[in-house]
Amino acid sequence: MIAAEPRTLPDGESPDLILVPATPSERIASIKLNSREWRGPLDLDTYIARENHLLTQRLTRDGLTCWVLVSRHEAEDNRTILSACESYRKTALLAHGGVVEKVATHGVGSVFSRPEFRGKGYAKRMMEELSTKLETWEMEKEKRGRSVFTVLFSDIGKKFYAQFGWRPFASSHLSVAAKEGGDTGARELFAEDVQKNLCSEEVLGKLHDRMLAASQKSAVAKIAIVPNFDHFLWHWAREEFYAENLFPDRSPPVVKGAGVDKAGVYCAWNRVFDDVPEDNILYILRWVYEEPTSPTEEQTTIQAMAAILRRAQHEAHEWNMHKVVFWNPTPLLQKAMALVDPTSELVHREKDSVASLRWTGEAEGLGEDVEWWLNEKYAWC
Ligand SMILES: CC(C)(COP(=O)(O)OP(=O)(O)OC[C@H]1O[C@@H](n2cnc3c(N)ncnc32)[C@H](O)[C@@H]1OP(=O)(O)O)[C@@H](O)C(=O)NCCC(=O)NCCS
Repeated sequence: MIAAEPRTLPDGESPDLILVPATPSERIASIKLNSREWRGPLDLDTYIARENHLLTQRLTRDGLTCWVLVSRHEAEDNRTILSACESYRKTALLAHGGVVEKVATHGVGSVFSRPEFRGKGYAKRMMEELSTKLETWEMEKEKRGRSVFTVLFSDIGKKFYAQFGWRPFASSHLSVAAKEGGDTGARELFAEDVQKNLCSEEVLGKLHDRMLAASQKSAVAKIAIVPNFDHFLWHWAREEFYAENLFPDRSPPVVKGAGVDKAGVYCAWNRVFDDVPEDNILYILRWVYEEPTSPTEEQTTIQAMAAILRRAQHEAHEWNMHKVVFWNPTPLLQKAMALVDPTSELVHREKDSVASLRWTGEAEGLGEDVEWWLNEKYAWC
């Protein structure tokens, strides 16, 4: 429910304001409020159903907190929501000084103030409080007892969140138009193939080993949000929910990525359905491949990436997506894209989905700087 409007709105800096986890009914109230911003092609009830469906996913069912900025003088379940957001608890790797630790972190999303309450400092107050709260929120069982970083993906540029410590990190992407195609030489991956080829203990173990080796060579701490299968399931729950609602007569999308086994190159994707088909995007969530060790191997890897990209273009076409997009491409992926579409240019995002990280490792003796490994779309929330 949405509580009654107060006669006079409190000041954003008022000591009366507190940031607290929403009660279940306040969570629904905050979803209703932000629906006008994010429900896209869904009606209100379906949008609420989507949010509830996402909440039951493995990634979020134990780690999602809906936060609301409210007056401490109002009664629970009947409070006026001045600003709201969500945090998602995630597992990460931290590599420093020849050690790799499994740590917990939070991603922040759905930052929202209702239009009539904007410009009064509520989102600022919320983010200021949230920034320090997340350092210890649900960290009781962690070895350090606190997080060393949190992330968010800003849709309002680089300045707003930076004032609370979320610094902008690499936020580039490549895109290529959807296109009908035949056999490209890439194998289509179903969910279980993605689990095997992108999320296995072996693949995650290699990430651990690479971060360990890198931490022995450089003093700068490195973090990565663990790209476990739960992330992919969460993204797919979203796309399948949309597909079922928008295309009730069509079976849900089952091709979740593509790979070329002989080159050991794989990717996983999801389809994002927006208000209008021109904004629909097939996002490559993550790439997995071994660094080639010879020019011949490099050519094999690039050719495999190109075949996968062509398969992705076809999949995008099949689902009425406008284009294929992937974040922060490596030099090899840029070479592959040059084969598929020589006109495709690297875009550096200044406003939307700016990957931002708040580092508090310095206070833990981990140094001033941090490298964000695997800054790819799977980590978005
Ligand atoms: C962004 C949003 C949460 C700000 O809420 P708010 O309560 O009005 O924010 P505050 O009053 O605390 O702070 C306002 C500041 O936010 C900045 N801001 C608001 N919208 C912005 C935008 N679209 N782009 C850049 N900055 C923006 C303002 O410039 C202002 O900065 P200033 O004080 O330095 O001038 C609100 O406008 C909103 O809900 N927007 C729609 C949803 C959205 O885009 N959320 C962010 C997702 S990352």
